[in-house]
Amino acid sequence: MPDKAGFPHYMLKEIVEQPKALADTISPRVSLGTGEVRLADEVRIGAEELRALRRINIVASGTSRHAGMTGQYMFQELVHLPVEVDYASEFEYRNPMIGRGEITIVITQSGETADTTAAQREAKKKGSRTIAVSNVQNSTIAREADGVLYTHAGPEISIASTKAFTAQMAVLFLFAAYLSQVREELSKDDLGRWIAELLALPEKAETVLRSSSLSACQQLADEFHKFEDFLFLGRAIHYPIAMDGALKLKEVSYIHAEGYPTGETKHGPNALIDEHLPVVIIATCDRNDPGSVLRYEKTIANIRGFRQQSARVIAIATEGDIEIERLANRTIFIPEAPELLSPILEIIPLQLFAYYVAVRKGLDVDRPKNLVKSVTLE
Ligand code: F6R
Repeated sequence: MPDKAGFPHYMLKEIVEQPKALADTISPRVSLGTGEVRLADEVRIGAEELRALRRINIVASGTSRHAGMTGQYMFQELVHLPVEVDYASEFEYRNPMIGRGEITIVITQSGETADTTAAQREAKKKGSRTIAVSNVQNSTIAREADGVLYTHAGPEISIASTKAFTAQMAVLFLFAAYLSQVREELSKDDLGRWIAELLALPEKAETVLRSSSLSACQQLADEFHKFEDFLFLGRAIHYPIAMDGALKLKEVSYIHAEGYPTGETKHGPNALIDEHLPVVIIATCDRNDPGSVLRYEKTIANIRGFRQQSARVIAIATEGDIEIERLANRTIFIPEAPELLSPILEIIPLQLFAYYVAVRKGLDVDRPKNLVKSVTLE
């Protein structure tokens, strides 16, 4: 087992290792010079077959499923194929209507999760090809897949998954870019621009982790650790990040938290939103993307409404956004990034928030009660 390298907990060490995990996962697979993503040796499914694909299925558990949910947006936008995402533990119960001409991507940090292994076997039985995204070399799920895309995040010891999650999202983006390259969906110039954005991520993650951000998240934890419920909100690709922020808080600090799509609050949860229920909302904006700007404007209107209901709002916003800073009670900034890649940065302050709340409550951060690192029983 690696040592804690001077950190008080593995969870903090692993959060801080994310820039390196991203760089190790991304850089060996892309060439900025030629504008290419190189995954053929890992995917091990021929170009003809990839060009004929009809659908992509994604199955995973917990945090890995949240990565899969972000992948749905990446594949649909870059590859223009329909994508279904499912809980591995539910997969076999709904008689999944999958088969030949499809790929099932199974995402797992450990590569040994029983539910995910069972879902992978079910997908294979139905004739689907499988691609594993695994952080552990030669794991059961990696061995049983047609192709394997490893996340190079290094060993993850803390039970709460952090660096494996951001590396999973990076791998899914790489795979989406690779498929669009093989299927000639993107021009060389566009692909080159995406590669440059991917390569810029480790430095941006470094910015999110500089000491001023760490102390901002720590202060937030000091201020909010006594609340018993939280609502995490996000729209579109930011919704799975809200889900994961809530999951991290639940598992390490034993605080009830729910992740919800922002627009759904009007359909019920709004009845709960007041000064007793802090709202953590992803309110980033990609100014170069009209769809992102539209979603952002709706989010601004939602924040106004929550404030009128006396809720305390913690926002994750894009650097320099003074409007959000004025509206929300607390704002944590992250660097600007294209909307499809921004989730990789947005989750970092939410991981830090969960970590510092757990520390403030004196809990066993790396080994939360009733949980194990690798769930090998169904
Ligand atoms: C949450 C967490 C779990 C795992 C889930 C799947 O922080 O760690 O939700 O993500 O048990 O595990 P893997 O990815 O190993 O299949």
